[in-house]
Amino acid sequence: MAKTIAVAGKGGTGKTTLVSLIVDYLVQKKQGPILAIDADPDSNLGTLLGFKKVKTVGELRDEVLKEMKDFPAGMTKASYMEAGLHEIIEEADGFDLLTMGRGEGPGCYCYLNNLIRKFSEDLTPSYKWVVIDNEAGLEHINRRTSSNVDILMVVVNNNPISINTARSVDQITKSLKNKIYKKYLVTNQIKEGRKEVIQQLAEETGMEYVCDIPSDDILEETIFNGGSLRGLDSPAKEGIFSLMEKIGG
Ligand SMILES: Nc1ncnc2c1ncn2[C@@H]1O[C@H](COP(=O)(O)OP(=O)(O)O)[C@@H](O)[C@H]1O
Ligand SMILES: [Mg+2]
Repeated sequence: MAKTIAVAGKGGTGKTTLVSLIVDYLVQKKQGPILAIDADPDSNLGTLLGFKKVKTVGELRDEVLKEMKDFPAGMTKASYMEAGLHEIIEEADGFDLLTMGRGEGPGCYCYLNNLIRKFSEDLTPSYKWVVIDNEAGLEHINRRTSSNVDILMVVVNNNPISINTARSVDQITKSLKNKIYKKYLVTNQIKEGRKEVIQQLAEETGMEYVCDIPSDDILEETIFNGGSLRGLDSPAKEGIFSLMEKIGG
């Protein structure tokens, strides 16, 4: 049974950074097979994990809808979609990546969307870890009708709005049909004196405050230059080691 870690929080708090470092940690600890899912429509997990260009499920859906009329005889939308989905999983050394891309849009292509949901859920059992970079509304988690989440990490930084987002993520989890077994708060580069506020937030919501990811110039520079966080040895990576040890990863 795969163990699922989902990371959520306000944009810019460091979710994608955290997911990349967790995937890198699990690979380094030989905890594979691992599936990383980029469920944020503003996808950039692939870049931080060292991929040049990744095709998204959203792009594939658009392609199917646009090119339907030119399909070879006997090829259905579903069979095209299914073939495409298998190709869309990027394989790297130690982990796989699935990038969701743009969401379902206003039109209802219900059976294509159901196919996508089923595909992403059917994948899960073949992995030991599934790590998901989420959008703030947790829509991707909500769509995974039969998969529970073992660990939800909500990231907060010095932006006060990220605290409101953490509260609303916590509220959303209460309306999900999926079970979330453990909820953690993780801060990113928070000022020392503000940790008390986070502790209060933890008590108020029932989430557990695990640790702070330290500010990391090497990481910041690497991301700025479009580089990958794989194999990076730096203060933030050390923070991930203590985070994962605390949560039992
Ligand atoms: N611990 C850290 N030290 C230094 N810079 C960081 C750290 N965490 C995140 N960043 C910076 O913040 C930016 C946004 O982080 P990102 O993970 O993309 O946030 P999100 O996915 O939540 O939008 C990164 O591009 C990086 O420059
Ligand atoms: Mg992100």
